[in-house]
Amino acid sequence: MRTVIEPFRIKTTEPIRLTTRAERAVALQEAHYNVFLLDAEDCCIDLLTDSGTGAMSTAQWAAMMMGDESYAGSRSWKHFEQTVRDITGFDHILPTHQGRAAEGILCETLVKPGDLIPNNSHFDTTRANIEYVGGRAINFLCPEGLSTQDESPFKGNMDVAALEACIQQSGAEKIPFCMLTVTNNTGGGQPVSIANVRAVKAVLAAHGIPLVIDACRFAENAFFIQHRDPDYADKSLLHIARELFALADAATMSCKKDGMANIGGFLACRDADWATRFRNLLILREGFPTYGGLAGRDLEGIAVGLREALEESYQVYRHATITYLSRHLSEMGIPIVQPPGGHAVFLDAKRFARHLPAEGYPGIGIVNALYLEGGIRAVELGSVMFARRDADGREHPSPLELVRLAIPRRVYTQSHFDYLIEVIASVWQRRDQLPAHRITWQPDFLRHFTCHFEPQQGQHLQ
Ligand code: F0G
Repeated sequence: MRTVIEPFRIKTTEPIRLTTRAERAVALQEAHYNVFLLDAEDCCIDLLTDSGTGAMSTAQWAAMMMGDESYAGSRSWKHFEQTVRDITGFDHILPTHQGRAAEGILCETLVKPGDLIPNNSHFDTTRANIEYVGGRAINFLCPEGLSTQDESPFKGNMDVAALEACIQQSGAEKIPFCMLTVTNNTGGGQPVSIANVRAVKAVLAAHGIPLVIDACRFAENAFFIQHRDPDYADKSLLHIARELFALADAATMSCKKDGMANIGGFLACRDADWATRFRNLLILREGFPTYGGLAGRDLEGIAVGLREALEESYQVYRHATITYLSRHLSEMGIPIVQPPGGHAVFLDAKRFARHLPAEGYPGIGIVNALYLEGGIRAVELGSVMFARRDADGREHPSPLELVRLAIPRRVYTQSHFDYLIEVIASVWQRRDQLPAHRITWQPDFLRHFTCHFEPQQGQHLQ
């Protein structure tokens, strides 16, 4: 059959509150035009993130009931550790409450002021953790990755020549490790090829620099490799994942993505000395090394979820939902990042709202219009999130202005997608009226979460 169906049926439902436009206009104003500040129950379809928002399976819930809450050496820890080791091959596994805790421990242990940490594209918490301890986070995304229309299969790849040049220039001693984010979330959820990981590893190995994988969406990345690299067409997702991790020295993971869980993460590595240093900080920040920041039941849910993420039928369905959405948007001429990524569809805000300059935050104009129009909550990945600011406050815009529609795992059905397509189409038809926004208040860092906006005078979208 050509129709890909959800490889599950629904046993528990959660009601969605349907709001009116007038109610949404009030809610948005009260949230200072920043959708992060909205109440979730005022959102009809919440595509803010695919992180921790998925639905768990009956097998995960059953495993959670078996959670062993012993402080040390629990059965649930063993289950978690064995699963992570089987998939990643790492010797030392440290459970954390989420991905950024793993990043924090990694950076606080290994990064010194003035150090450089290359990545294909750093996620915002990774960058913040590096900068917090005085390091510099630099992106070496391949040139294709910066084009929203280039149809290359692996647009998350690192620019290996740029990496090599950076090492030559700064010296290997300034680079305690290099990272690769799979898939490349901030660059459109684009995959990284095994060939690229291998090439990056070869350059790093020649200089004695370790490779750390940001593995949040490793199973989606494995699916892309299976479908886009003929050498891997007949390999299982587990096989591909193992091959990826075998090239790395360590990994940070947010189990809120391809762990199919609502909370959790881990830091894993091969080196015993690193592990000892990580563990000391883990105990201080997260908890005893056999539970980290997690309950025994969470460890159980993740152990099952990591395997479910590697099931072919699940990944086929997941990919089909993203393809369905992106195909319909493309057919209407709505500019999206091509090819669509693994966990989200990204609208190209620069081409969607051509009349708005970067300083007018076109992504925010679109995000707020989607909310007003249909109660859809999306997120800007553009100059609000990524602009560099000089000491005097001057902003250098982000090279890409995107709006991310992140799809929670196993949550929304096809009619939700049809509704979403209708809402986006309606905003697209009135795109010329999208107002510019300005920031009226912002904190010192990670401003996008809490800053306040104001639509430009006289430009309120009706
Ligand atoms: N790395 C990547 C690539 C991520 O996408 C995220 C989280 C993290 C690290 C941090 O993990 O949230 O468990 O601390 N991304 C979410 C998102 C928040 O919406 O993309 P965390």
